[in-house]
Amino acid sequence: MLDISFAKAAAPKSGGLVILVAEGAGLAGVAGAVDKACDGSVSRALKAARFSGKKGSTCVVLAPGAGLSRVVAIGLGDGGKIDERGIEDAGGAAAAALAMEETAAIAADELSRPQVASLALGACLRSYRFDRYRTKEKPEDKPKLATLTVLADDPAKAKAAYAPMAKVAEGVFLARDLVSEPGNILHPVEFADRLSKLAKLGLQIDVLGPKDMKKLGFGALLGVAQGSAQEPRMVVMKWLGAPKGKGKKAKPVCFVGKGVTFDTGGISIKPAGGMEDMKWDMAGAGAVAGAMAAIAGRQAKADVIGLVGLVENMPGDNAQRPGDVVTSASGQTIEVINTDAEGRLVLADVLHYAQKQFDPALIVDLATLTGAIIISLGHEHAGLFANDDDLAKNLEAAGRATAETLWRMPLGDAYDKQLKSEIADMKNVGGRPGGSITAACFIQRFIDKGRPWAHLDIAGMAWGSKDKPTVPKGATAFGVRLLDRLVADHHEG
Ligand code: BES
Ligand code: MN
Ligand code: ZN
Repeated sequence: MLDISFAKAAAPKSGGLVILVAEGAGLAGVAGAVDKACDGSVSRALKAARFSGKKGSTCVVLAPGAGLSRVVAIGLGDGGKIDERGIEDAGGAAAAALAMEETAAIAADELSRPQVASLALGACLRSYRFDRYRTKEKPEDKPKLATLTVLADDPAKAKAAYAPMAKVAEGVFLARDLVSEPGNILHPVEFADRLSKLAKLGLQIDVLGPKDMKKLGFGALLGVAQGSAQEPRMVVMKWLGAPKGKGKKAKPVCFVGKGVTFDTGGISIKPAGGMEDMKWDMAGAGAVAGAMAAIAGRQAKADVIGLVGLVENMPGDNAQRPGDVVTSASGQTIEVINTDAEGRLVLADVLHYAQKQFDPALIVDLATLTGAIIISLGHEHAGLFANDDDLAKNLEAAGRATAETLWRMPLGDAYDKQLKSEIADMKNVGGRPGGSITAACFIQRFIDKGRPWAHLDIAGMAWGSKDKPTVPKGATAFGVRLLDRLVADHHEG
């Protein structure tokens, strides 16, 4: 992970430097000093490029003098309107612009302390790269930046403000690593092994295998798993960080993730084109794991339990067939019309277990559940389904604060009816109309009456095909910051 250090504001004498410029503003502080040391070459270059500080604009000045290899100006837009998100994006743009420098700094001497920390977080998040399997990349093509110095008025305080954010970034990187791994490497057993290592953060980790699941009556999850040579796992990650007083015990928050380490569709097999994407059908589980790492890493004062259901959906000789009837842990029976609607089968058993075992104050599940949500919302919002307006509002607000945005979708009996089966309590698909909604209705059948619950369909958000300011293309870790923020804003202290 990009190492970020904080130092007293002073003009650097070598390497790369990012300066931040509000629209129409001149060069002040470190930026002004550097311009002076370069005999005005920076301000002349910005003028020649007609750089005005517009939000998101950048201007690179190569070899401006004074020993520097480059100065990059990044526009902040209207100085009065810069929010946390805008500053994070500027940090991300800075990391991208400095990637090929060995030593680099950002002049943040004109920013407030929380802004300095957000800037550092943005830079760190953008610097992620998954290069485990590149053995032949030329050294000159590899990013060089290992340490980024943030120049601030009070470096010690800026460092302290950034410390918990660095833990959140670690959670994001964990999730991105998991989501990036191919299916042959990251099968359920390997996934569970990696999560077991999170015990070093103070998380209690329990791993359940097929024998335990049989005892618990996980017929829906096991039906999916039976077509694969890889054994399924369920991993429970507990963080008990709430201050323990004498009063009655507060109920925990539960997060549940879909972890299909590869989704071929099973016997209802998917078409070949693009099937490789289904290595990231475990992004919900990755997000829950990353959020738990963030929450434990920054020692959140809350009780939070993360659960992931890990299976591979394959068409092996013992695979379940369309028309099979399975009995879920809740006792409800399901006619499996389409073996490619497997995520909801996995969630059904894990959600039931989570409620029985932990009686949570609220439960949020994350899943790359339907292609239909991409048709509805594209790659801009995850679908939010909730039986509780307060929970929905809190999630929407956390989404806006972290740029992991949600859009609320409906639930209701009229949709739920589409799940009626002739032979069992329900079937696992509701037909094409409202495909994401009937999927959510299916899941809701496994939620206790009165239990605040939200389901996030993240199929359109788990993987990005373009770089964004704080999210390089590839695995996004969507949900990690959102869940961490929900806990920070509503369940601590
Ligand atoms: N994992 C897929 C959903 C998905 C599709 C995620 C595209 C990311 C990108 C899920 O298991 C699935 O196959 N859903 C089916 C449901 C259908 C059979 C009712 C779908 O969306 O086609
Ligand atoms: Mn599927
Ligand atoms: Zn799937």
